[in-house]
Amino acid sequence: MLGGAYLLFGKKSLDKSNNSPTAVFTPAATSQAKPTFSLKEVAKHSQKGDCWLVIEDKVYDLSSFTNHPGGDIYLQYCGGEATSAFQTKAGRGQPHSTEAKNRLKNFYLGDLNREN
Ligand code: HEM
Repeated sequence: MLGGAYLLFGKKSLDKSNNSPTAVFTPAATSQAKPTFSLKEVAKHSQKGDCWLVIEDKVYDLSSFTNHPGGDIYLQYCGGEATSAFQTKAGRGQPHSTEAKNRLKNFYLGDLNREN
Protein backbone atom coordinates (compact mmCIF):
# COMPACT_ATOMS: atom_id res chain seq x y z
CA MET A 1 0.00 0.00 0.00
CA LEU A 2 2.70 2.41 1.03
CA GLY A 3 4.88 1.06 -1.76
CA GLY A 4 2.04 1.66 -4.26
CA ALA A 5 1.72 5.27 -3.10
CA TYR A 6 5.44 5.71 -3.46
CA LEU A 7 5.36 4.27 -6.96
CA LEU A 8 2.46 6.54 -7.92
CA PHE A 9 4.20 9.60 -6.51
CA GLY A 10 7.43 8.53 -8.15
CA LYS A 11 5.73 8.19 -11.52
CA LYS A 12 3.97 11.55 -11.21
CA SER A 13 7.11 13.42 -10.36
CA LEU A 14 8.81 11.73 -13.29
CA ASP A 15 6.03 12.94 -15.62
CA LYS A 16 6.30 16.48 -14.25
CA SER A 17 10.02 16.56 -14.78
CA ASN A 18 9.50 15.80 -18.45
CA ASN A 19 8.95 19.21 -19.96
CA SER A 20 9.40 18.27 -23.60
CA PRO A 21 6.24 18.67 -25.67
CA THR A 22 4.42 15.47 -26.61
CA ALA A 23 3.44 16.61 -30.13
CA VAL A 24 5.54 18.80 -32.39
CA PHE A 25 4.00 20.13 -35.58
CA THR A 26 6.72 20.48 -38.14
CA PRO A 27 5.88 22.31 -41.40
CA ALA A 28 6.01 18.96 -43.22
CA ALA A 29 3.54 17.38 -40.79
CA THR A 30 1.16 20.34 -41.11
CA SER A 31 1.13 20.34 -44.90
CA GLN A 32 0.53 16.58 -44.95
CA ALA A 33 -2.57 17.16 -42.86
CA LYS A 34 -4.07 19.55 -45.44
CA PRO A 35 -7.03 18.25 -47.44
CA THR A 36 -7.25 18.12 -51.24
CA PHE A 37 -9.87 19.85 -53.39
CA SER A 38 -11.29 19.26 -56.85
CA LEU A 39 -11.59 22.00 -59.50
CA LYS A 40 -15.36 21.62 -59.09
CA GLU A 41 -15.07 22.52 -55.40
CA VAL A 42 -12.77 25.47 -56.19
CA ALA A 43 -15.29 26.71 -58.77
CA LYS A 44 -17.87 27.22 -56.02
CA HIS A 45 -15.75 30.05 -54.59
CA SER A 46 -15.63 32.51 -57.45
CA GLN A 47 -16.28 35.96 -56.09
CA LYS A 48 -14.98 38.73 -53.86
CA GLY A 49 -15.22 37.64 -50.21
CA ASP A 50 -15.46 33.97 -51.23
CA CYS A 51 -12.48 33.50 -53.48
CA TRP A 52 -10.45 30.34 -53.96
CA LEU A 53 -7.92 29.94 -56.73
CA VAL A 54 -5.29 27.52 -57.94
CA ILE A 55 -1.60 28.33 -58.36
CA GLU A 56 0.78 25.50 -59.26
CA ASP A 57 -1.69 22.81 -58.17
CA LYS A 58 -2.19 24.38 -54.77
CA VAL A 59 -5.51 25.84 -53.64
CA TYR A 60 -5.52 29.23 -51.93
CA ASP A 61 -8.38 30.91 -50.10
CA LEU A 62 -8.08 34.61 -50.87
CA SER A 63 -11.46 35.52 -49.38
CA SER A 64 -9.80 37.74 -46.78
CA PHE A 65 -7.16 39.19 -49.15
CA THR A 66 -8.01 42.88 -49.12
CA ASN A 67 -4.71 44.69 -49.62
CA HIS A 68 -3.36 43.41 -52.94
CA PRO A 69 -0.88 46.00 -54.26
CA GLY A 70 -2.12 45.15 -57.78
CA GLY A 71 -5.74 45.96 -56.87
CA ASP A 72 -8.77 43.85 -57.76
CA ILE A 73 -7.22 42.19 -60.83
CA TYR A 74 -6.83 38.83 -59.06
CA LEU A 75 -10.60 38.65 -58.53
CA GLN A 76 -11.05 37.62 -62.18
CA TYR A 77 -9.36 34.33 -61.32
CA CYS A 78 -11.45 33.41 -58.27
CA GLY A 79 -12.91 29.93 -58.72
CA GLY A 80 -10.28 28.58 -61.07
CA GLU A 81 -6.78 28.26 -62.42
CA ALA A 82 -4.54 31.30 -61.79
CA THR A 83 -1.02 29.90 -62.20
CA SER A 84 -0.03 31.81 -65.31
CA ALA A 85 -1.85 34.97 -64.17
CA PHE A 86 0.12 34.93 -60.92
CA GLN A 87 3.42 34.13 -62.64
CA THR A 88 3.06 36.88 -65.26
CA LYS A 89 0.97 39.42 -63.33
CA ALA A 90 -1.82 38.86 -65.83
CA GLY A 91 0.24 39.00 -68.98
CA ARG A 92 2.68 41.71 -67.95
CA GLY A 93 5.44 39.11 -68.23
CA GLN A 94 6.75 40.01 -64.83
CA PRO A 95 6.81 37.50 -61.98
CA HIS A 96 5.69 38.39 -58.47
CA SER A 97 8.44 39.15 -55.96
CA THR A 98 9.66 36.71 -53.31
CA GLU A 99 7.70 38.74 -50.78
CA ALA A 100 4.51 38.17 -52.77
CA LYS A 101 5.21 34.42 -52.91
CA ASN A 102 5.75 34.40 -49.16
CA ARG A 103 2.49 36.24 -48.58
CA LEU A 104 0.70 33.70 -50.74
CA LYS A 105 1.65 30.95 -48.28
CA ASN A 106 -0.62 32.52 -45.66
CA PHE A 107 -3.64 31.69 -47.82
CA TYR A 108 -2.76 28.06 -48.58
CA LEU A 109 -5.75 25.79 -48.12
CA GLY A 110 -4.66 22.44 -49.57
CA ASP A 111 -3.61 20.73 -52.77
CA LEU A 112 -5.59 20.41 -55.96
CA ASN A 113 -6.91 16.95 -56.78
CA ARG A 114 -7.22 16.73 -60.57
CA GLU A 115 -8.75 13.26 -60.49
CA ASN A 116 -12.26 14.27 -59.60
C1 HEM B 1 -3.70 35.50 -59.15
C2 HEM B 1 -3.77 36.62 -59.80
C3 HEM B 1 -2.90 37.82 -59.56
C4 HEM B 1 -2.62 38.74 -60.50
C5 HEM B 1 -3.10 38.73 -61.94
C6 HEM B 1 -1.76 39.74 -59.89
C7 HEM B 1 -1.29 40.87 -60.53
C8 HEM B 1 -0.57 41.87 -59.94
C9 HEM B 1 -0.27 43.15 -60.52
C10 HEM B 1 -0.75 43.60 -61.89
C11 HEM B 1 0.46 43.83 -59.63
C12 HEM B 1 0.92 45.32 -59.74
C13 HEM B 1 1.98 45.54 -60.73
C14 HEM B 1 3.36 45.26 -60.19
O1 HEM B 1 3.62 45.46 -59.00
O2 HEM B 1 4.19 44.85 -60.99
C15 HEM B 1 0.69 42.98 -58.48
C16 HEM B 1 1.48 43.29 -57.40
C17 HEM B 1 1.61 42.51 -56.29
N1 HEM B 1 0.92 41.36 -56.00
FE1 HEM B 1 -0.30 40.38 -57.28
N2 HEM B 1 -1.54 39.40 -58.59
C18 HEM B 1 -2.22 38.25 -58.33
C19 HEM B 1 -2.28 37.58 -57.12
C20 HEM B 1 -1.52 37.91 -56.01
C21 HEM B 1 -1.52 37.17 -54.77
C22 HEM B 1 -2.38 35.93 -54.53
C23 HEM B 1 -0.64 37.78 -53.93
C24 HEM B 1 -0.25 37.45 -52.51
C25 HEM B 1 -1.00 36.76 -51.69
C26 HEM B 1 -0.09 38.92 -54.64
C27 HEM B 1 0.83 39.81 -54.13
C28 HEM B 1 1.30 40.92 -54.77
C29 HEM B 1 2.33 41.80 -54.23
C30 HEM B 1 3.02 41.67 -52.88
C31 HEM B 1 2.54 42.79 -55.20
C32 HEM B 1 3.56 43.95 -55.15
C33 HEM B 1 4.68 43.69 -56.17
C34 HEM B 1 5.43 42.40 -55.90
O3 HEM B 1 5.79 42.17 -54.73
O4 HEM B 1 5.66 41.62 -56.86
N3 HEM B 1 -0.66 38.97 -55.89
N4 HEM B 1 0.02 41.80 -58.68
